[in-house]
Amino acid sequence: MSSPPVGVKGDPYSAQSSPTRRTVTPTVSGTPAGGLLMSSDRYHEPVLATEVIEILSAVPSGVIVDATVGGGGHSELLLSALPEVGIVGLDRDAEAIAEAGRRLARFGDRFRLVHAPFSAIGEVLSDIGVDLVSGVLADLGVSSRHLDDPARGFSYRHSGPLDMRMDPTQQLSAAEIVNGASRAELVEILLVGGEDRFAGRVASAIVAGRPFVDTLSLAEAVVAAIPAPARRKGGHPAKRTFQALRMWVNGELGELRSVLRLGLDLLVPGGRMVVISYHSGEDRLVKAEFAARSGGACVCPPGLPCVCGAPRDLKLLNRGALKPGGEELAKNPRSSAARLRAAERRGRDAG
Ligand SMILES: C[S@@+](CC[C@H](N)C(=O)[O-])C[C@H]1O[C@@H](n2cnc3c(N)ncnc32)[C@H](O)[C@@H]1O
Repeated sequence: MSSPPVGVKGDPYSAQSSPTRRTVTPTVSGTPAGGLLMSSDRYHEPVLATEVIEILSAVPSGVIVDATVGGGGHSELLLSALPEVGIVGLDRDAEAIAEAGRRLARFGDRFRLVHAPFSAIGEVLSDIGVDLVSGVLADLGVSSRHLDDPARGFSYRHSGPLDMRMDPTQQLSAAEIVNGASRAELVEILLVGGEDRFAGRVASAIVAGRPFVDTLSLAEAVVAAIPAPARRKGGHPAKRTFQALRMWVNGELGELRSVLRLGLDLLVPGGRMVVISYHSGEDRLVKAEFAARSGGACVCPPGLPCVCGAPRDLKLLNRGALKPGGEELAKNPRSSAARLRAAERRGRDAG
């Protein structure tokens, strides 16, 4: 890799014009805003970091988009390991952007942070004059900081407001869904995001118990709605409900669909996309998109050349999904649900 980073020169915190995204100027010292932290002062432990670095080490020089920069853990490792690469880091949470700004400050103009949802990846890059990129990393879901800060309303273990917005400037919060959705809507939300076999019982309990004002009282109502034998299996009984609500509040499946399509189209030949998901529905979407673009949609008879025109502009980099090993699980149990899939863009006229 020899050429300098593309499009990441200049002030890494310069303002963006669109009202849907803005660049937050982080302070270089001090503690992040956000209230009481219950378990760890560490913002977030990057998951499958060795695998991410190894996969993205092979991309051509240029820009890597860290679509979920969070506390900047993956970005820091990438900037350290790949001196010819620049990072554009996105996050829809301004607090994460501030934290990443502090953590990455020593890399000067090799990174740029933009407060934006990753579905806006195309507009963000075009605003800063980047046409194509060498890599896209999407480490989905919430950060440990989100879960550890009761004030953000993601935790079913601690009392906090029913919020769950990754971007607190967005309008829809969990309170509106919990206290305003019909039973049928709640069932759908719980099935889509939680794949919850007790969705009907939980939805009925929510409707009967409202209004709810805090996370703990909601969690207690959910636990009471789940049959006792099922409560003892599969982690905290309110986990699926909270996950489903969070995914709905933040439109997470729609965001993922967008970044998959847009991110893959932005890759240079040899460029790579890495997605880490923590939810089986998300992993299925990633698997399906990667498969469809790597010949999986071909309907030609096996053994004969493909004439059906199925896209083949991607090459899958692993058989199946990569998962954290025993050492990582012991160090960071929150990584247990992580599934990493990666694909490489072939020549732009392939398929
Ligand atoms: C698992 S954390 C990423 C942690 C990061 N890789 C690190 O090493 O610190 C996920 C982050 O993605 C952000 N996020 C989730 N969905 C997003 C979206 N649609 N657009 C932008 N950021 C998003 C969250 O706010 C959170 O900070």
